[in-house]
Amino acid sequence: MDKIFIDGGKQLAGSVDISGAKNAVLPIMASALIANGKSVISRVPKLRDTYTMIRLMEIIGAKCSFKDDILTVDGTSVNNPEAPYDLVKTMRASFYVLGPLIARFGYVKVSLPGGCAWGPRPVDLHLKALEKLGAKITLKSGYIIAKADKLIGKTIDLDFPSVGATGNILMAAVTAEGTTIINNAAREPEIDQVCKYLISMGANIKGSGSSKIIIHGVEKLHSANVEIIPDRIEAGTFLAAGAILGKITLNKLNPKHLVSVINNLQEIGCEIETTQDSITISPADIIKPFDLKAEVYPGFPTDLQAQWMAIMILAKGSSKVTDMVYYDRFSHIPELNRFGANIRLNKNTAYIDGVKILKGAPVMSTDIRASASLIIAGLAAEGVTEVSRIYHIDRGYEKIENKFKLLGAEIWRENKL
Ligand code: EPZ
Repeated sequence: MDKIFIDGGKQLAGSVDISGAKNAVLPIMASALIANGKSVISRVPKLRDTYTMIRLMEIIGAKCSFKDDILTVDGTSVNNPEAPYDLVKTMRASFYVLGPLIARFGYVKVSLPGGCAWGPRPVDLHLKALEKLGAKITLKSGYIIAKADKLIGKTIDLDFPSVGATGNILMAAVTAEGTTIINNAAREPEIDQVCKYLISMGANIKGSGSSKIIIHGVEKLHSANVEIIPDRIEAGTFLAAGAILGKITLNKLNPKHLVSVINNLQEIGCEIETTQDSITISPADIIKPFDLKAEVYPGFPTDLQAQWMAIMILAKGSSKVTDMVYYDRFSHIPELNRFGANIRLNKNTAYIDGVKILKGAPVMSTDIRASASLIIAGLAAEGVTEVSRIYHIDRGYEKIENKFKLLGAEIWRENKL
């Protein structure tokens, strides 16, 4: 089993390039299923999740070829609207095939995504919305079966601006009869890119990136090419390391997607310089404590909550971290405390008393972003850290140790029992 080892306490310096965004490429790959013909998707990150989605697309019948960071998807031969449990259980985002396949076939069978480390994570908003568009939905042996002769556009008021539900509604509604309005839609940049991609395939969508999206159904879509936006969560992860460990520059990103993150980093004492497509961060001399609330976009992303905690454990004073999106996304706390951090949890708020130093320790990853926080803590800790179950981190980061090595870290991967 591969593990990542870190000999910590080294200053970071230099620059790295940011990859394409995982949370944009997955729904965009699903969107390509709506149309016949070849779509060329560029700047595709080589992640475990990307390969899982390719496997799913091939099971559904699409032809995929992936070379360097270019993925070609041919949706012409798509003929099997089913997403099996074995794949969906490894990646919730597989549920993104629900919208495209019911739009294309009027029928789809998708395994219900199981729970995850942070609780139930239901898909009720996805299903309620599709029912509103006229789909008949049944649950059979853990599979959702959705049928509709023709989807009819309707107004959908989302109880919560769910990223996944907004994505599935968009992909289902683009060829529905009439107009669909999504109120309280997700505004994440990844969903904005899905809208823009669907428009490039011939869809008629207004309000992309806002909380009210209007979709006028069209007859059919055609294939189209797209370059994936930069991964703001990967960028935020490196910024968190820079906030503690050294002046670094991140290139090939969009600072506009990171406004809340940049503001908070400046609040705790970091210096930030931005250009159109890069951010340079200089660490705080003394990290100031800060009470954070993780929220939906444009608020501070929940996917950076754990990495932010890895900074706050070294702050001079006490701070709080509250997650307003996932009530119990805190499986990283007991692992961070193994480094000598001082974190207590009460409901969806963590209470952190900053410490002066961290000591390297063997720790275990529990999910993608939790493992990123352990790597940051390991880079800051004195001595050696051993991170296990790193298949989690490979789901969301392209060989993360190579990029940290470029910044001067002593970090390596080893196949060890
Ligand atoms: C997307 O997940 C991201 N995944 C997640 O990133 C991210 O944490 C999340 O959005 C929030 O920003 C991808 O884009 C592939 P949601 P998604 O639907 O779509 C509740 C990472 O680390 N909810 O916006 O699953 C839900 O339980 C991953 O890259 C319902 O109650 O998130 C949660 O509390 C982790 N019913 C909240 O809404 C529903 O039908 C947000 O979920 C749907 C969601």
